[in-house]
Amino acid sequence: MSHPLARLATRLGYGARQLPRLVWYAGHGYAMQRLARQVKRRNAPRSALPLPGQTRLYRDMAALFGRDLANVEAGLYPLPADHDGALPTLLARSRLFFDDLPEIHRRRESGGHSEVREDGRHGVRPDYYLQNFHFQSGGWMTEDSAARYDTQVEVLFKGTANAMRRQALPELHEIFAGRDQRELRLLDIGCGTGRFLDSVKQVWPRLPVLGLDMSEAYLRHARRHLRRWSWTRLALANAEAIPLPDVSQDAVTGIFLFHELPPQVRRGVIAECARVLKRGGRLVLVDSLQRGDAPDYDGLLDIFPQNYHEPYFASYLDEDFAAIAWRAGLTHVRDATAFVSKVMVFDKVG
Ligand SMILES: C[S@@+](CC[C@H](N)C(=O)[O-])C[C@H]1O[C@@H](n2cnc3c(N)ncnc32)[C@H](O)[C@@H]1O
Repeated sequence: MSHPLARLATRLGYGARQLPRLVWYAGHGYAMQRLARQVKRRNAPRSALPLPGQTRLYRDMAALFGRDLANVEAGLYPLPADHDGALPTLLARSRLFFDDLPEIHRRRESGGHSEVREDGRHGVRPDYYLQNFHFQSGGWMTEDSAARYDTQVEVLFKGTANAMRRQALPELHEIFAGRDQRELRLLDIGCGTGRFLDSVKQVWPRLPVLGLDMSEAYLRHARRHLRRWSWTRLALANAEAIPLPDVSQDAVTGIFLFHELPPQVRRGVIAECARVLKRGGRLVLVDSLQRGDAPDYDGLLDIFPQNYHEPYFASYLDEDFAAIAWRAGLTHVRDATAFVSKVMVFDKVG
């Protein structure tokens, strides 16, 4: 049991780090809603399913932060540093975010989501990948898109995205505890701008990690973001063909990736994760809630792909991950919800 003063310092430290983020990103969300009211939507999103009220949303956000803090107090990870950057960086990203809103609105109104594919300069990448996901400019393919991404995600989740990502850490702690981190291997597929790997390195600085993504721009951004850490590699590759030997990884993670993949690709990627995992290794996924996980969120899940180009989200909502993983040789250990996300855990046993 820690000293009450030490506990108070941890709680104050946590609040001092998380509250300003919450205000900053929720403030962006509020400004975005005000702007949205000024432009008329032709096809306003609708759902006949139940929607969570504001009170429920704020209660669940508070529960997520409460769990994040409890994990820190339990020694599962240190007080998190979100490394959002200094004020000039934040302001530059904020500008990029607001600059793209009219373009997003234009694509949303016209159903435009294939500019990336039509651009035709993107080498050998699968068709499903070359889309303007979220109606964002550049899809996954440009520097601006990578620089804008973290602000977009944090605004969407009102400043809770990193806290949701961190809910994968206790699942890794369970299999890493008591082992020499230098001897372990972790692979993060669809690592994007490297925010999750940053959290991983805050707990296990000497753990060799590999981040894999199909976007050069996002990997460049991740490389800059992760330069404070050693034992960190990044690779341009398709998660359908992971460039690693069989049975070589102790853990594989995939954060906010699987709802972006078509059903067949999901199956192929999970089979690849199973192939590279060692026996006793663990796959941890963090992604959106699925239908029925929290029934009063079902309307929100129904509306989300209408607002943001998410072509595979509807199929994601009913996907049976335990069954796919089982066929690939992985055993479902548990699911846990965390605000609008869920953590799914699978082990390679036997
Ligand atoms: C929604 S973002 C998630 C990024 C990051 N994991 C996070 O926590 O924010 C999806 C990422 O997956 C990458 N991606 C999508 N399909 C992929 C594939 N088949 N192979 C590798 N990366 C992929 C995209 O380039 C993008 O960076």
